[in-house]
Amino acid sequence: MIARVARIAELKEIVKAWRDQTQRIALVPTMGNLHRGHLALVERARRLASRTVVTLFVNPMQFVAGEDLDRYPRTFEQDRALLDAAGADVLFVPEVATLYPNGLDRHTEVRVPGLDTLLCGAFRPGHFTGVATVVTKLLNLVRPDLAVFGEKDYQQLLVIKRMVADLWFEAEIHAVETARAPNGLALSSRNAYLTEAERAIAWRLYAALCEARDTLTRAAPSFQSIERRGRARLEEAGFQADYFAVRRASDLMEPAPEDSDLRILAAAWLGKTRLIDNLAARKFVER
Ligand code: PAF
Repeated sequence: MIARVARIAELKEIVKAWRDQTQRIALVPTMGNLHRGHLALVERARRLASRTVVTLFVNPMQFVAGEDLDRYPRTFEQDRALLDAAGADVLFVPEVATLYPNGLDRHTEVRVPGLDTLLCGAFRPGHFTGVATVVTKLLNLVRPDLAVFGEKDYQQLLVIKRMVADLWFEAEIHAVETARAPNGLALSSRNAYLTEAERAIAWRLYAALCEARDTLTRAAPSFQSIERRGRARLEEAGFQADYFAVRRASDLMEPAPEDSDLRILAAAWLGKTRLIDNLAARKFVER
């Protein structure tokens, strides 16, 4: 049976005992409302480690003013049952006051400059600082051998990898491919906000990314024309696009003509719901 832990002292005691037995420890940070995508992270963690800590914490520091912090879906009992069935060992569910005992306003922040202000960072200022700060806390509390994150938040994944490298955290960072519905829609807790009519359209975000990827792979148009076409596809479908961008996969900078390892990323609103998705792409190279 999965152990539910809310106190830092108890969490530390458990992981210390594991470490003393030279168990390999994995960390899977989540904000709850778990779906198949989260369970794939746990499955990967269990394959790579002998003990798995899943954290469930809706982190207020990564929500920008006016965002959905209060209505973010909280489904604790369902999440606990899913994690129990998935074989996770500990579910760490701290209160906000436990992770931020002195409040949020004067809290130490971890910033990952360069990566944190582009794409989603430009539309959600401070978001990635909130993510980097809470992930730092969790890495320091658990001191895992590895931590697992999803590729759906590709920019978040790069922010965390950069932070871990810059601050010499010892945990390996593992990435798991995005889990999708049969129509391609990336699984996300925020899909719960979509109305039935919006659900019927939402997969077209993935379709626009696939079209852009296929164009890049088969022909050599300019990156700008692919971005324009992608944005137009989204607007035709009824989205309001924040961005549709072709970037270098390694650092999300604008690619030079010779860059071939690319990532296509998009964020768009469907009614009141902001969806994000991304795909790997390799550029067509003439032989
Ligand atoms: O991806 C998420 O669910 C969150 O951003 C994370 C990594 C758990 C930090 O709060």
